[in-house]
Amino acid sequence: MKKKFKEATGNTLAPLRPHLKWIVVGFAVLISFGSILYTNSLVAQIRDREQRQVEIYASSLEFLANESENVNFFLILDEIVAANHSIPVILTDENERPEDFRNLSKAGSILDPADRELFLREEIEVMKEAHPPIEVTLKDDQDIIYGYKYIFYKNSFLLSQLKYYPYVQLSIIALFSIITFLILNYMRRVEQDHVWVGLAKETAHQLGTPLSSLMAWSEYFKGIYEDQQEALVEFDKDVDRLKVITDRFSSIGSEPQLTMLNIADTVDEIVIYLQKRLSTKITMTVSTFPNRDIEAKINESLFAWVIENLCKNAADAMEGKGSIHISILRANEGHIAVDVQDTGKGIPKSKIKNVFRPGYTSKKRGWGLGLTLAKRIIEQYHRGKIFVKLSETNKGTTFRIYLNG
Ligand SMILES: Nc1ncnc2c1ncn2[C@@H]1O[C@H](COP(=O)(O)OP(=O)(O)OP(=O)(O)O)[C@@H](O)[C@H]1O
Ligand SMILES: [Mg+2]
Repeated sequence: MKKKFKEATGNTLAPLRPHLKWIVVGFAVLISFGSILYTNSLVAQIRDREQRQVEIYASSLEFLANESENVNFFLILDEIVAANHSIPVILTDENERPEDFRNLSKAGSILDPADRELFLREEIEVMKEAHPPIEVTLKDDQDIIYGYKYIFYKNSFLLSQLKYYPYVQLSIIALFSIITFLILNYMRRVEQDHVWVGLAKETAHQLGTPLSSLMAWSEYFKGIYEDQQEALVEFDKDVDRLKVITDRFSSIGSEPQLTMLNIADTVDEIVIYLQKRLSTKITMTVSTFPNRDIEAKINESLFAWVIENLCKNAADAMEGKGSIHISILRANEGHIAVDVQDTGKGIPKSKIKNVFRPGYTSKKRGWGLGLTLAKRIIEQYHRGKIFVKLSETNKGTTFRIYLNG
């Protein structure tokens, strides 16, 4: 019961965020569709209106033309179309030869009549695609048909613009959202950095004073308790360990120094230290490929912290019994790979993406910080990479670290 509760609290932050993300994405999709649908309905309404308008022009033209035989079409078109300031229109004879046009400012600016006709003919083709032309029947006073005219037209500039408006608008909103997200993310990271660095520095500082005092006490006791030298050696070991811890905190609180070190030797030292502290039923082995001569740029104390965290997690996952194998490999492009492999219970597939999140733990007494710290040390301080390479339920897990050689 208790375990379940802990697992639930440990997970509280992690699953909430993805949900929230999907809700926001859902709303964004809904708004986008709503906006596109609404604009589409506006476009349809305006298109109908424009079509009706052109039909009215055509009817008026037909009516006026049939009233009198000598009517000047261009004059009529001028009169009627004068009210229409936006729909591009071309009037042609029965053979689709352009006779006049309106609202085609480009055609107006072409002075050469032949060039202008060419342009108008091209426009007629475009207009044909947009709408079928409207036919104007010319009849004499005996109601005998003596000719036809055609009115070609296309959507007004306003309508064409409106069609693309939601896409332009949504793209701008999307771009703005992405920039805002990136800025907020950056600010959050800067804030986190401040907390990490501040807390680490303060911890190192606070540990420093009692530590130097303990060292002085050790010297003092060595002088007066000559028969207790063995106990004092143990005392010194603990003081040394405290020094290592203080050094780690002070390294993480400042820009740590990286030095070229033999990784096999470094890992061996860590394994010797851990072997004494982990259960005797856990065997630890180290292998190197192609040989032991593999060097990488590391900060020794921080790198040791990472390996310790990975091994402690491995030991927890194996519940005190199993084997941990560390392999050091020379990878491509001067990178060094360090794999920490265990025979533990594995990480469920759905949880793999959560393990590096601060606060994520499945343990009763876990803080969910070990892997967060490891990621920070490897990725920020060593410019390397750390990830779950493989994990199988009840078979084991392998974490991989990439370092720069
Ligand atoms: N080798 C592993 N095998 C199985 N699960 C693992 C392994 N390593 C990590 N995990 C899972 O990832 C979680 C997070 O690990 P992390 O080291 O960040 O925190 P923790 O070990 O729970 O707590 P602590 O802050 O004390 O390290 C663990 O609780 C565990 O569920
Ligand atoms: Mg841990």
